[in-house]
Amino acid sequence: FLIHYIFTGCQVVGPHQPVVALVDDDVILPCHVEPAEDVTAEILEWTRFDLNPRFVHVWRSGQDLVNTRNPSYRGRTSLFINELKLGNISLKLSRVKLSDEGTYECSIPLMEKKSFVKLVVGK
Ligand SMILES: *[C@@H]1O[C@H](CO)[C@@H](O)[C@H](O)[C@H]1NC(C)=O
Repeated sequence: FLIHYIFTGCQVVGPHQPVVALVDDDVILPCHVEPAEDVTAEILEWTRFDLNPRFVHVWRSGQDLVNTRNPSYRGRTSLFINELKLGNISLKLSRVKLSDEGTYECSIPLMEKKSFVKLVVGK
C-alpha cells in the first residue's frame, strides 16, 4: 500500500455509506482528497454514468462549467468554493428529486482519481 501511495499521490475519498435524503431536501454529497491538497486549479467532475449527458457538476479553470451539465440538475448543484483549497470537493444538491437517486462519481480526471457516492431518496 505504501509503495502504491507514493506513486499515486493523493486519493479521492467518498463516504462509506449511502447518503439518504428526502424529496425537496438539500443534501451534501461528501468527497475529499487525502491528504488534503488545494484542488482549485484542477478539473473536478461530478457525474452519473446512467445519465446522458452524464455531467452533474463540472469545475474547470477555477469556475463552474455550466453548459455541459445535465439539464435535470440545472441550478441545483454547487461546490463549496472556499473548501476546494482544503481538498474538499463535496457537492451540495438542492431540492432533491426522486430521479436524483443513484450512484455519483466524484473525480479529478487528469489525476485519474475517483470515488463513488450513492444517494438514496425517500418520499
Ligand atoms: C466539506 O465541506 C462541507 C460543507 O462545508 C462539510 O459539510 C464537510 O464536512 C466538509 N468535508 C471535509 C472532509 O472537510
